[in-house]
Parts: sequence; C-alpha cells; structure tokens
Amino acid sequence: MYPDLNPISWRSLLDRERERVATLVKQFRMQFCQPPQFVVLAPGRINLIGEHTDYNGYPVLPAAIDRHVAVAVGSRADSIVQARTSAPGLAPCTFVLEGRLQPGPSGDWGNYVKAAAQLLCARVSAPKGADILVDGTVPVGAGLSSSSALVVGTGLALLLSAGISDLSRFALAEEFASAEQFVGTLSGGMDQACCLLAEEQAALRIDFFPLRVRSVPFPSDYHIAVCHSLVRAEKAGAARTAYNLRVWECSVAARAVAFLLGDHEQALSIDRLADLERHFPSQPRASFLDLLTYHLPDRPMPIDEIARLLNANVESLMPRSRKYAPPLDTPLQLLRRARHVFSEADRVESAEAALRLGQVDSLHRAMRASHGSCRDDYEVSCPELETLVDAAITCGAVGSRLTGAGFGGSTVQLVPTNKLPEFFERIDQLFYARQLPGERNFADYRFAFRPSSGAKVIAID
Ligand code: GLA
Repeated sequence: MYPDLNPISWRSLLDRERERVATLVKQFRMQFCQPPQFVVLAPGRINLIGEHTDYNGYPVLPAAIDRHVAVAVGSRADSIVQARTSAPGLAPCTFVLEGRLQPGPSGDWGNYVKAAAQLLCARVSAPKGADILVDGTVPVGAGLSSSSALVVGTGLALLLSAGISDLSRFALAEEFASAEQFVGTLSGGMDQACCLLAEEQAALRIDFFPLRVRSVPFPSDYHIAVCHSLVRAEKAGAARTAYNLRVWECSVAARAVAFLLGDHEQALSIDRLADLERHFPSQPRASFLDLLTYHLPDRPMPIDEIARLLNANVESLMPRSRKYAPPLDTPLQLLRRARHVFSEADRVESAEAALRLGQVDSLHRAMRASHGSCRDDYEVSCPELETLVDAAITCGAVGSRLTGAGFGGSTVQLVPTNKLPEFFERIDQLFYARQLPGERNFADYRFAFRPSSGAKVIAID
C-alpha cells in the first residue's frame, strides 16, 4: 500500500531536507511576494539493472537516490505558469495554460514544466496558472533522471495547486511517463515510476504494461555508490536521436520475429520485444533470438533490406511515432539490440533473486554482464564510462555498470558501508585526479546513499 499524496508536515522531514525546504520557501516569498502552498520533493534514481528494457515491456530494478528536485508552488488568479529556477544560467519559463502547449527549443528546461502542465490541461478546462520555484540537488546530465524528477515535481505541484486531490501514485506514474515524451524522447516508464513509488531501504522491481511494482530489500551493510563519468548524458540532442533509434530497432526486431514465425497478421499488433511472449506463449524466449540469429546478418541494415529479407512491406516496420523518428534511411542493428534486451530481462530476474538471498557475488556477476551487454550489443557506453567502471572494480566495488540511458552519465556500484571512505579515496586517485588534473575536491562527482522513498508533498504552515 502506497502513501497517498496528501501533504505531510515539514516536521517529519530529515534535518537536511527540512533545511532545504525552509530555504526554498524563503526564496519563494522573496521572488513571488507570497508564501507557497506546498513544496514537492521528487527524487532522482539509479538503476541497478534492467537497462533499456522498460520500453520493451521487460522489468527494471531501480532505487530512488537521496537527492531531490524541490518545487515550491503558489496559486495565481490568471492562467499563466511562471516557473523560475535557482540553477545558474536558466531563464524563467512563462506560458499560458490554454490549447495545446508547444515545446520550446530542444534542451529548454521549460519543456519539462510544459510536459507536466499538459496533465493539468487534460484534467481541468480553463485551469488557473501557478508560480513555481525549482531548486535541486539531483546532478543534471548525470543519468540520474533529474528531468523526470522535474516533470514529476512540477506536475504534482501544478495538480495540487489546482485543488486536484484524488491523485494515485500508480496512475500518475503512467501519465507522467507519457507526458514526458513531449520533450521528444520516446522513453519508457522507469524513471517516473521510481520517482513516485520508490521505498526506503529497498530497490524497486518494476514491470510494465500494466505497471506493477514490488520492493526488493537492499542489503543492510552496503551503500550504493554513484560516480559521474564527467561526460554529460543529455536527454536532448545526439543522445536523444540515438535513444529513439534504439526504440525503433527493438520494435522492428520484435516484428521481425513475428514475420519469421509466419504470422504476418499478428506482427502488426506487436510493438515491443516482450509482446512476443504474449502472442506466442508456447515459444521460449530464447527461440526468438535464435530465429533472428539464423535469418538476419549481424550488421546494421537499411529498413528496405530488412523488409525484403522478411518478405514484408516497409510500411509495416515503420516507427510507432513518426514525429520523433530517426531519419528513415538510418541502418538498423536488430540482432544485437534484441540480444541485449532478452538477456537483460533474464539478468533482472537473477539480480532480484540475488538481492533477496543476499548473494552479493551473483549480483556482481549480473551487473557486470549487464554492463558488457550495454557496451557491446546496445552500444550505449563511451570510453570514459569504460575507464570509470574498470577503476571502480579495481577499487573493490560490487557490480560497477553504467546506469540510465548511457551515452555518458554515471556508473552505479555497491560498496560495503564500512569501506566507503577507502573506495572514494581510491577512485579519486585512479579516475578523478587523472581526468581533472589540478582539481582536488571531487565530492561533487561521486556520492553514496541508501535507497530513499518516492516523491513527497510538504505542507507549508
Ligand atoms: C532513460 C529513460 C528510461 C529508460 C532508461 C534506460 O532513463 O528515461 O525510460 O529507458 O533510459 O534503461
């Protein structure tokens, strides 16, 4: 049973959260000349394992970090949303809540606020606007889902400010996931679900279509360490194109299996690799990959060549959403992408079992194999992540691997709580001091935490 979204008292917060809320409230009063109605704390996340499986319909195993996007909100009499942030260099974002909201230029932080505001527009006709002040401790561009925390934080703030109280964390997790596609990334639902449904001291096993979650106890004598590769993982630009391409590659791979099984009619209702298990229940998961391996060459191929090989028409292999589709002549790598997803789905099962049984060695093996598969088959790693993962293993970490979409960002690993100071000292020497000669303080680039709870709404009295 999940806590509802009724505001809780600031007195129940941890000391450091309370201080941040108090500072944000003070800043809000100064900027908008009125007190906020609420403050929302929306956490970022790491993913222990299950990378690029969510939009394929397979499970993930994330945990919420102890860093949040904090959003203070106050009501307005007109229909304008005015969002400001204390983050340096980011201009205020102002828009009117009417009609269909249009995204601003790619990479604009205001697009995430608009993504969230769409949910309000969908629920209320002629909604009132709001003043919003955003602050945050989730590192940006670190693969820790600061953008989804921003969508969830501002979305909850806007809905609550409009007096909507019958909010379910489950329903919102799905709604926010679709809403975030407004920014142009065809991402799955892991980040928003973790942000809303995470539990303290536990990882969260999440299944999709339909959304289901169960908590997986996290070993009491370990912390999760996060280390930034110093390469920004942006959800806009080249990484977005590369991400959307993988979504398309996987859906073509799924349809390819159906065509190869001779079921041209079923093929058209298959969008995700996991759909195959529902449509062809008597076929084992491994047989889908065997089919692809037998019939398709292991190289990127243009869509018309794939269609010819499958005896299908090109139209039946087109991306789900043409709006954010990569150029249609981009060669598609089907076999390796599918191999990653099917094997990663199996690894989530092993990792969950390992956590439940306290078998840290098995968890280590699953996380290491996941990283190798992300690098070789899904091709979402980069040289800096490789150097960092190797350094973390040398420094005694359990299961170092990239976390989140990849293309830069952070690594995640487990470290025994009593070995944390030693781990950080060694990783500083082995990685950060070499990458950042002349710098001495690396605390901004790596941290450790125990799993935190999902988003909270704090009443201001
Ligand atoms: C991003 C997306 C998620 C998920 C991960 C990769 O974080 O937002 O939905 O696909 O990448 O596992």
